[in-house]
Amino acid sequence: MQEFGEILDLLAKGEYVSGEDLAAKLGITRAAVWKQLKTLRELGYEITASSRKGYLLLARPDRLYPWEVEKELNTKIMGQRIEYYEQIPSTNRRAKELLTESPVEGTLIIAEEQTAGRGRLGRNWFSPPGAALYSTVILQPKLPPNDLPKLTLVAAVALSKTIERELEQRPLVKWPNDLYLKGRKISGILTELSGELGRLEYLLLGVGVNVNQSPEDFPVEIREKAGSLRSILGRKEKISRLGLLRSYLQILEEEYLNALQKGFAESLAYCRRYSATLGRRVEVTDGERTYKGRALMIEEDGSLILEAESGEKIKVISGDVNLVDPDAQTGL
Ligand code: BTN
Repeated sequence: MQEFGEILDLLAKGEYVSGEDLAAKLGITRAAVWKQLKTLRELGYEITASSRKGYLLLARPDRLYPWEVEKELNTKIMGQRIEYYEQIPSTNRRAKELLTESPVEGTLIIAEEQTAGRGRLGRNWFSPPGAALYSTVILQPKLPPNDLPKLTLVAAVALSKTIERELEQRPLVKWPNDLYLKGRKISGILTELSGELGRLEYLLLGVGVNVNQSPEDFPVEIREKAGSLRSILGRKEKISRLGLLRSYLQILEEEYLNALQKGFAESLAYCRRYSATLGRRVEVTDGERTYKGRALMIEEDGSLILEAESGEKIKVISGDVNLVDPDAQTGL
């Protein structure tokens, strides 16, 4: 995709700039400038033109164009390369295709819409256009296999901190990979691994965040459980997906590097402190079996310890948690 960062910077200075100046500053012909302006308008940028004064940017579209994501992004790894799609089956699936091309670590795939968005345990992830974030980051962590599941928690921590920073509300982490705000699921994480047994090549960190949907935008089956940040927080204005995405990439990088250098103690402590799971009665399914009990602890290895009604302690390495506390539906 063509890059528009430079011309947009020149158009966004708050004063008109002539076609001649644009051409000189960009080192291209006036015809090429005119072509770029035409494309930008087609992409949704509002650019006013005055025959005497030149051009001025009035408004940017609510899109996750790569040159917008890159703007003011101070990361070294996350988002080094960005692939952007208006529509794609699934960003995780695209990331998998890219693995054959030895992608650089931190490659980011983003889409406005997914037609076959995937959730955990083979479920679908509802992915309508324009109101949510769908992203996958490709990572190459040099970690022993046992540590890898904990990277899902690292992503959950990064996302919870992002939302706290941007919107001043801290979502809770529902072990192992969901974020809940005021009792509703606002985000899910799908981590996938590639490589041989015991030798990881790549880890794909797919994150979906419900940002601006209205309650009625969600399918009836999930309307009670899911929610968007905007509707849960009762915001009149749309929440900036770009702001959230940039901040997430920044914080994810900090959390990831911290975990690689110092281990997972801090991420685990955060997940325990801001947990939507611990202390609650839960049902956990690992795809084969369902365990019931009270969620007692998140262990150092990232697993969840349940206390069954019999008093028996059960260790669950990974799974899907259902909160069965009556107050869990409303009280978070
Ligand atoms: C879950 O809660 O089940 C995990 C949902 C993960 C959804 C994201 S959206 C971006 C990425 N691409 C996908 O197809 N899935 C993940």
